[in-house]
Amino acid sequence: MAIKNIGVILAAGSGERSGFGIPKQLIKLAGKPIVEHTISAFQNCPVIDEIIIVTSPDCIEKIEDIVSNRAFEKVKKIIKGGKERFESSLAAIRASEPLADQDIRLIFHDAVRPLVSDRIIGDVVHALDHYNAIDVVVPTTDTIISADPMTNTIAGVPERQILRNGQTPQGFKWKTINDAYALALKDANFRTTDDCGVVLKYLPDEKIFLVNGETNNIKLTYQDDLHIIDKLLQLNTKKVICNDLTSRTLSALKNKVLIVVGGTSGIGEEIAKLANAYQAKVVVASRRTGTNVSNIDSLHKTFAEVHEIHGRIDYVVNSAGILVKQPLILMEYKDVLEAIQINYIGTVHIAMSAYKYLKESKGHLLNFTSSSYTYGRAFYSLYSSSKAAIVNLTQALAEEWHPHFIRINCINPERTRTPMREKAFGIETANSLLSARSVALLSLGVLLNETTGQILDITKEFAKSAIENTALSGEK
Ligand code: CTP
Ligand code: MG
Repeated sequence: MAIKNIGVILAAGSGERSGFGIPKQLIKLAGKPIVEHTISAFQNCPVIDEIIIVTSPDCIEKIEDIVSNRAFEKVKKIIKGGKERFESSLAAIRASEPLADQDIRLIFHDAVRPLVSDRIIGDVVHALDHYNAIDVVVPTTDTIISADPMTNTIAGVPERQILRNGQTPQGFKWKTINDAYALALKDANFRTTDDCGVVLKYLPDEKIFLVNGETNNIKLTYQDDLHIIDKLLQLNTKKVICNDLTSRTLSALKNKVLIVVGGTSGIGEEIAKLANAYQAKVVVASRRTGTNVSNIDSLHKTFAEVHEIHGRIDYVVNSAGILVKQPLILMEYKDVLEAIQINYIGTVHIAMSAYKYLKESKGHLLNFTSSSYTYGRAFYSLYSSSKAAIVNLTQALAEEWHPHFIRINCINPERTRTPMREKAFGIETANSLLSARSVALLSLGVLLNETTGQILDITKEFAKSAIENTALSGEK
């Protein structure tokens, strides 16, 4: 019998507890709605054959747009759910009734768990070869108590060893979950918050197998969860980039047109060299080559010339920046303006000049920030505040440009050995600094990745594992 694994994305809730005022599956994270991250996870997971999205009347249009704009071709149906979660599950069961020669398996997943991994989905699907119902759980870390709500006292403390926190996905053979619901619907007292609970109660002989979940696979329930999911998404992206970074993936740079603004020294120079080694068409634009980021006309001219010569612009890296280490009060006014012009306004100018070309190529703009963006630093206030502004700008433009398929991300390298740093801070012990080359390598990995709207911290540890993974010695 032909097996078909259908991912069911439940996105019909109203998200009352979150208090966002819109259904939480539409909240934007790293430039895109949460539900889009979740659909991508299923679309890109090799064991999933088809996807059904269950949603509500107020989301359906947005979700249809996402599916058609992003060409999620595994999505076969977008259907309306119900008021209760189980009604949404039921809608998917009814929409997927198998033909006689089909073995349909439904893998139900909360739209608001965007961090589900391939590993989890894969384990659920494989476990369905041996069991008819699967849950995904993680060991409980808190002590769970049962309460007597009447007296608000403890009624019992179940042994923690046997407790687990339930996540999704939950997977079922179609007949199993359909049979369970058929019985449930005959029960006047039927209540549930998940699908495994229905199988447990109404098909007590069925063994529900437990697959290991991941602590990262959290559900967006309250507003604060958003900060955590944002950070975890960043860590996930870093892992993916690190694992994907091989000479083979970097060879995708071949014949791509890349402008490196500020590419005559430091990280920009290394990016230009590495991209050249991978046969990208690299154009370095800096003061030395006659491009002045403070002047938008100068950038318009540079971009137009590159486009004229090469016919397209795929990637723009903006590594231009100056670090003046001086108390603000002692700086000359012209130097104050220059620092803001180059570090911040220059970034705005680059974004404005690059936009039309990146829209045409569905390209990628990569900015650079510094660890000082999270907290202003004494004696280089203009540098650190510009870097904070660049982060903010990146996030905003990621949302603005997402409909046009332009990605924009920001690299946040730890202290890196560059001429700019040496000038400001003098000679520092070599092993306390990242090499510009390793930052360049990872930056190219980010350029080739589908991610957008992210601020990616490059730490020494991360750089080391990326380099070990790629086994790139640096001579290539
Ligand atoms: N869900 C659904 N249909 C419902 C209720 C929930 O498809 N009638 C989906 C939600 O969209 C979410 C997942 O089930 O992706 C988990 O539900 P939950 O976290 O409870 O989300 P909401 O019901 O939207 O939120 P709340 O309970 O705070 O209102
Ligand atoms: Mg709910």
